Amino acid sequence: MFVTMELSQEESCTLDIISSSAAQTQRLGMQLGCLLDGGTLILLDGQLGAGKTTFTQGLAQGLAIHETVNSPTFTLLKEYMGQGHKGQDVSSGLALYHFDLYRLDDPEEMIDLGFEDYFYGTGVCVVEWADKAGHFWPAECLHLQMKVLNEIQRDLLFSATGARYCEILREFQKNAYATVSS
Ligand SMILES: Nc1ncnc2c1ncn2[C@@H]1O[C@H](COP(=O)(O)OP(=O)(O)O)[C@@H](O)[C@H]1O
Ligand SMILES: [Mg+2]
Repeated sequence: MFVTMELSQEESCTLDIISSSAAQTQRLGMQLGCLLDGGTLILLDGQLGAGKTTFTQGLAQGLAIHETVNSPTFTLLKEYMGQGHKGQDVSSGLALYHFDLYRLDDPEEMIDLGFEDYFYGTGVCVVEWADKAGHFWPAECLHLQMKVLNEIQRDLLFSATGARYCEILREFQKNAYATVSS
């Protein structure tokens, strides 16, 4: 019901959205998922119950992934294969790499586990608890900070860095208005 977008000079931009239900958060994830190409990195932060997994479930829908997505808390990483959209070749489906770093003890582990390769790979990477990896992240990515406002409302603050991610955020914003005002 409330969306603001700010542009700044150095190829970074932010979008602030208040979601009023889990379904709305999921729909926003789906709309973002539809816009993504391979090699995209999305970082999610926010307390337990903020909606990171809910958003990721929508993202997976947007990538035409039909498997159930839940938190990979005990494994740090789950992989899903996208089926591609209707009318497209199945091979056009993008892989989704869903990380949950809640149990990461040391940012160094990211390198030890070979996770870096994923972030520069061809799939879409979404990372819950990205803050746990400290300053490990590439300069260009889309960061989503989620905040619990009350039982049903969440503040979603998207920050994009780099021209490509700003463009994704601009496209996303067009549909986001419709979602949160309905
Ligand atoms: N606006 C909202 N957006 C997302 N989740 C919401 C919202 N309102 C209530 N919820 C509830 O909050 C919980 C979010 O859980 P989850 O997505 O697993 O969070 P996280 O992965 O951040 O720990 C779910 O039980 C969901 O139904
Ligand atoms: Mg979660």
